[in-house]
Amino acid sequence: MSISVKPRFITFEGIDGCGKSTQAKLLIQKLEDEGKEVVFVREPGGTDISEQVRNILLHSGGDEMTGRTEALLMTASRAQLTKEVIIPSLDNGKWVVADRYADSTLAYQGGGRTIDLEWLIELNQFATFALQPDLTFFVDVLPEIGFERQGGSPDRIERAGLDFQANVRQMYLKLTKRFSDRIVLVDGNHTIDSIQDVIISTLIKRNFI
Ligand code: TMP
Repeated sequence: MSISVKPRFITFEGIDGCGKSTQAKLLIQKLEDEGKEVVFVREPGGTDISEQVRNILLHSGGDEMTGRTEALLMTASRAQLTKEVIIPSLDNGKWVVADRYADSTLAYQGGGRTIDLEWLIELNQFATFALQPDLTFFVDVLPEIGFERQGGSPDRIERAGLDFQANVRQMYLKLTKRFSDRIVLVDGNHTIDSIQDVIISTLIKRNFI
């Protein structure tokens, strides 16, 4: 039974192939079964402008895009999505579940591309209009496992390789410690159902549902 009426903003994070998208979809199903209105977004993308930016980010060129360009485009996409979709949805009483949000920039452009973390945190503050997720699930797997699970042809960032993904993962681990009130590490090696159980029990423990 629902004891909370406040709409929540929940994000899923992790390296490529960690299984977060599956978990995000299952959570939405559960929340909708509980009678909540839920908006799903995925980053980069989610608005006309942001999808165009996604296309540049994931499919244009090879190695020539600088880490700074990548960070600015990721956060440009985020600013549009936040203003156009996320904030209005929360204001209208809808829950928002995001497949990636600001932590991805800290992990990929900070950990992966070695851009200064504190600067990226500032950039995110600007791009998100200072909106913070209420809760973030970091679905943790080793890069080798993530690589095995990836389907289809890899995008420009996935092509950066296993060492890159390892650095991204290390940054996620660091962020989980630093923002321990908000980020919950979930072991992505368990079955889909048992991971979902952990996610639901976390929401119950926090009185979100
Ligand atoms: P996806 O594969 O989860 O759709 O994400 C697209 C890629 O973009 C993925 O490799 C992670 C990367 N990414 C960043 O590098 N920085 C960001 O801020 C976001 C949102 C995604």
